[in-house]
Formats: sequence, C-alpha cells, structure tokens
Amino acid sequence: MRQHVNPLSRNFDQIERIPSLIEMFDDSKLPLHLDIGSAAGEFLFDLALNNTKWNYLGIEIRERLVRTAKLKAREREIKNLYFLFGNANKIVHEFHSQFITKNLQSISFNFPDPWFKKRHHKRRVIQPELVNILSKSMRSGSQIFIKTDVKDLFNYMDCTISSNFNFKKIAKKDFNYSESFNPNKFQTNREKYVVGNELDIYERIYMKI
Ligand SMILES: C[S@@+](CC[C@H](N)C(=O)[O-])C[C@H]1O[C@@H](n2cnc3c(N)ncnc32)[C@H](O)[C@@H]1O
Repeated sequence: MRQHVNPLSRNFDQIERIPSLIEMFDDSKLPLHLDIGSAAGEFLFDLALNNTKWNYLGIEIRERLVRTAKLKAREREIKNLYFLFGNANKIVHEFHSQFITKNLQSISFNFPDPWFKKRHHKRRVIQPELVNILSKSMRSGSQIFIKTDVKDLFNYMDCTISSNFNFKKIAKKDFNYSESFNPNKFQTNREKYVVGNELDIYERIYMKI
C-alpha cells in the first residue's frame, strides 16, 4: 500500500540541521550517491554493505522510517550510509552547496509518489526548480537515475529533466553499471513488487553536461 505524505504541508517547513559530510561518513572523500525518497532504506543498506568504496545518503520525508533506518545503521556500525529526514526539495534548495560537492556522482529517484491528480502535480518531488538547482550544483559527468511504474509520471519527469539543457539522456545499453553506485543491480522494495507482479518499469539515466 502506498502511504503518501504531502510534502507541501507546513509540517515540513522546518529542516533539521544537516551534518557535514565528515560527520556523516567515515571517509567523506568517497564517491557519494544520493537516493531521494529512500523510504526505510533497505535498498541503501544493500548498496552500502556491498560497495564499501561508496558513500550513500538517503533523504526521506517519513520521519519514523528515517529514525529506524538511522538506528539500524548505527547499531550495525555501517559507516558509509546516512539518512536525512525532510522534504528533499527543501533540503536540496537550502543545503545543496553542503552536500552536492565534487564527490556527488549520482542521484536516484526510485518510484517516486505519483500524485495522479493534476492539481497535486506540484507535490511531485521532481520539479523544474529542483532540476535547476541540481543542474547548477552537480559536476559534469554526474548522473540522475529515474525509475517508475507509472507511465504518466515517467513522461512528466522525463520532460521536466529534459527541459533543462544541462542534462543529456544516456542510452541504457551504453551505460557501464559496474562503475556505478549499483554494480550489483540491487532492486528497491517497490521495484521487487513491480517485477514480481510483471508490471512495466520506465527508467532513464541523464548525465550532467
Ligand atoms: C513509493 S515510495 C518508493 C520508495 C523507494 N524509493 C522504493 O523504490 O521502494 C516513495 C517514497 O518517497 C518519499 N517521498 C515522497 N516525497 C518526498 C519528498 N518530497 N522528500 C523526501 N521523500 C519523499 C515517500 O515518503 C516514500 O517513502
């Protein structure tokens, strides 16, 4: 069951202090991957445990999920994984210079909330303003990954990112996963459900020019 949280609610106006990369990770110089809408973080746990030469940062708007994920990472002493609670749009807007550094290699938006009704499209996490900030702060060669099972949402995200001329699409067949943040091609929870139910997946990779 999808549980939608309205990111435009006033509850999310305040942002918690964002620690520095040095506080978040044991080795802050490692390449960094950012997963937006990381839910309970299982996907990032798989990644962090298997790719110890990468740092992984999840942003999630459901506070309880973030609290539990942070506790789990601390208990297991995983030093290349961190979670931030809040609306990703606000966090990226206010703190992009802090964590969108030269270390940031890639960002994933996996199965974002679709917000089907047109009047709710402004609640979708990918917004022109977010893409604009990312286009100004990401270094060239870094990548954005989008994935969804909702065709209309895919078209919307593709159009929003492609409207920004600082990103170009990469053909999946030309992409070398072995050097990416996810060389083992781990699946997210939603992805496992979608694959299990033989639903379509729409995905695309963009590179900052
Ligand atoms: C459908 S779930 C997908 C979770 C996971 N990425 C996966 O593929 O299994 C979308 C997630 O994005 C989170 N989310 C939605 N809008 C957000 C926002 N503006 N900032 C941060 N997280 C958000 C939701 O709370 C939810 O956990």
